[in-house]
Amino acid sequence: MKIKSAEFVVSNSDVDKCPKSSLPEYAFIGRSNVGKSSLINMLTGRKNLAKTSGKPGKTQLINHFLINKNWHLVDLPGYGYARVSKSSKKTFQKFITQYFSYREQLVTAFVLVDIRHKPQPIDLEFMNWLGEHNIPFSIIFTKADKLKPKAIENHVTDYKIVMLEFWEEMPNYFITSSSKSIGKDDVLAYIAELNVQV
Ligand code: GTP
Ligand code: MG
Repeated sequence: MKIKSAEFVVSNSDVDKCPKSSLPEYAFIGRSNVGKSSLINMLTGRKNLAKTSGKPGKTQLINHFLINKNWHLVDLPGYGYARVSKSSKKTFQKFITQYFSYREQLVTAFVLVDIRHKPQPIDLEFMNWLGEHNIPFSIIFTKADKLKPKAIENHVTDYKIVMLEFWEEMPNYFITSSSKSIGKDDVLAYIAELNVQV
């Protein structure tokens, strides 16, 4: 899929204030600093569309981007960021949970995990929560530029072993690097495929 246009629409912390249109949407979620906002920029080919930072906790709201005038990409705050205060962590969790529970336009979630790390309880718990709520998701492994091909393969194999303790099969997954533009075509082709089904 070619990205012809990518525009910021709105930021908010209330699922009721998200765009009312019925366009299909795709949300990026995962731990703080995993590379959600960078991935949105890589996929759209717009360097500064979503705000990124070396410090975790950059994205703090639900951000909608309109792509090719007919679907939305959604950048979300990360979960599991230790440095925000307990009360703001709760607020974050609340609106992220509400977003996933009530957003009917959501076609699928992309759960981002850093390819370098072993499966983390917080990610596994989040994926289980999505499963319990019947919310479809794919896994996106990020920062693949940081590992050699053999190590990537080993990490994915380890991930699959852990996932199969919880799931009957490994969810659909993608290996990506925003700095090297790896995985761009695969993720966009998948979204294009889903867009015609909705
Ligand atoms: P929050 O908004 O804080 O939840 O973080 P985020 O998940 O949106 O991460 P963000 O895209 O802001 O990236 C965090 C850091 O990781 C930045 O320093 C990025 O440059 C870096 N980063 C993101 N993607 C990649 C990648 O594919 N490769 C490498 N090497 N670094 C990356
Ligand atoms: Mg971000």
